[in-house]
Parts: sequence; C-alpha cells; structure tokens
Amino acid sequence: MIAPIVREKAALREMIIPWKRAGEVVGVVPTMGALHDGHLSLVAAAKAVCDRVIVTIFVNPKQFNNPDDLANYPRTETADAQKLERFEVDAIWVPDGDQMYPEGFATTVSVSGLTDCLCGAARPGHFDGVATVVSKLFLQTQADKAFFGEKDFQQLQVVTRMAADLDIPIDVIGCPTIREEDGLAMSSRNLLLSDRARVYAPVLNEVMERMAVALRGGASMKDLMPDALKRLETAGFTGVDYLELRSADGLGLLERADVPSRLFAAAWLAGVRLIDNIAV
Ligand code: PAJ
Repeated sequence: MIAPIVREKAALREMIIPWKRAGEVVGVVPTMGALHDGHLSLVAAAKAVCDRVIVTIFVNPKQFNNPDDLANYPRTETADAQKLERFEVDAIWVPDGDQMYPEGFATTVSVSGLTDCLCGAARPGHFDGVATVVSKLFLQTQADKAFFGEKDFQQLQVVTRMAADLDIPIDVIGCPTIREEDGLAMSSRNLLLSDRARVYAPVLNEVMERMAVALRGGASMKDLMPDALKRLETAGFTGVDYLELRSADGLGLLERADVPSRLFAAAWLAGVRLIDNIAV
C-alpha cells in the first residue's frame, strides 16, 4: 500500500481527527528523508506499538548552519515513499517551507544547557532549528509517541527535554543506531561520500570502538587522544569537530568512564561531516 502523501496542514488535521476520536495511539517518525535502514528501524519500532504511524519528511532549513550543506542535502522523495510501502504507514507528512514557516513566522524553541556542547557548539543555531521544527511536528501530528535514533544522541536528549519542558503529551522513544556491516553508522550524508571516502569512513567507528575498550579498562581520554587523532588523520579525515567522552545522562565532559558514559565524535572526510556515538 502506498501511504498517502499529505502536503497541507489542514489535510493532515482532517486525517488525524478520527484517529484521535477513536482513541488510537498515534506514532510519529520525524525525518529529513533520503531514508535508509536506520530510519526504517524507527518506522518498524513505531509500527510495533502504535495503531497509526506518520512519517514526516522535511529538510528543515532552520537547522542547517551552512547553506552548502542545505543545498547538497539529498532529496529522494519518490524512493522514500517506495521504501515505506512495506511498512503500511498511515501517512507521509511532507510539508513545504511555506506550510512549516509561513510569512511572519517568528518563534524559536531553544533548549539551554544540553545544547552548549558537541554539535551545539560545532553548529551554532542547529539545535534551535531542531527543537523548533520538532515541537511543530509534535503539535501538527498530535502524536502520542515519537521515535528518534541514538545515532543523534544529543538530539534525542534535547527533544526529550523540550517535550517535557513544554508539557507536550508525547513519549519520546530512543532506538539503537543501525550500522553498515563495516560499522559505519547509517546516515543520509553517507550518500555524499565518494567511493574512495566510503572505504575509509568506517575508521571513525573503528577508532571509537578501540577507545571504548581502553576506557572500559580504566584508560583516560588524555592517554588515548593522540593515537586516535593520528589514526583518523592517516585515514584521510581532515578535521575533528569533537572526540569526547561524556556522561550518558546530562552530557557532562569526562576524562574517564567512571559513570555511565558515551564517546561522541564528529569528523570531516572528503568534505562530508560524519558523526557517531557509542556507549562506554
Ligand atoms: P534525519 O537525519 O533524517 O534522522 C531522522 C531520524 O532517524 C533521527 O531520529 C535520527 O537519529 C534517526 N537515524 C538516523 N540515522 C540512524 C541510524 N543509523 N540508526 C538509527 N536511527 C537513525 O535527525 C533528523 O533527521 C532531523 O534533525 C529531524 C529530527 C527530522 C528534525 O528535522
């Protein structure tokens, strides 16, 4: 079944009214499209526990701090709709820029604290854009449950905080990162890697896994960083935005894994910014 593609807010609202009236559990999976198995794992998780599932596809200009990145972001709507077919979702919500941000739009949702580090520090304004669009998607879809990937662990934390702080009645559910066989975290941006860069991209995860083993054995970040950075450089990574150990709860910076923690990285390979994080 091809799910209906909905492009107007009024049509979306009409569609949802009977679902809510019948007391059905509505799930939402927010995406920017270029769907891969990581996204589809969220759709499967939503289908398993919801009566109705809405997948949203919107390349949100407000969360891009770099105009080239926005221009180059892959857009594959027809293929996306085909990939969703087998899941029998109830709607694909594909608003355009005017539906999402009509003339005069003036509100920003901003989560403080959690957004000061990692991608928040490396990409100014990024999480304001995410929190603003996700709060709108939550309200537009009136979903009871929302599904996000741990691939973007900081985003998951920010969105959870935002929904709690704004009293949006929705359960935010985190789902594990889906990887290629060689360990590379699936990402829409992987489509932008050249064949050569694709060969070296898994080195990021390899380096992180190796660090995690040492951290579990009591090593400190200071001991591990020089070798990690050298390995990344040798593989062709041209810059590391961050490679940090942080607490899984609250994202406080750590030197050793003495509380439940995660290792976070963002690094550039052949002009593409790759991010990853793993539990330590
Ligand atoms: P996008 O990058 O398209 O990701 C949509 C959702 O898929 C996010 O929750 C993300 O964490 C999840 N995801 C991506 N790769 C994954 C993987 N390899 N394994 C598991 N889940 C994965 O994140 C966004 O879009 C946007 O910021 C959005 C939340 C839609 C707001 O615009």
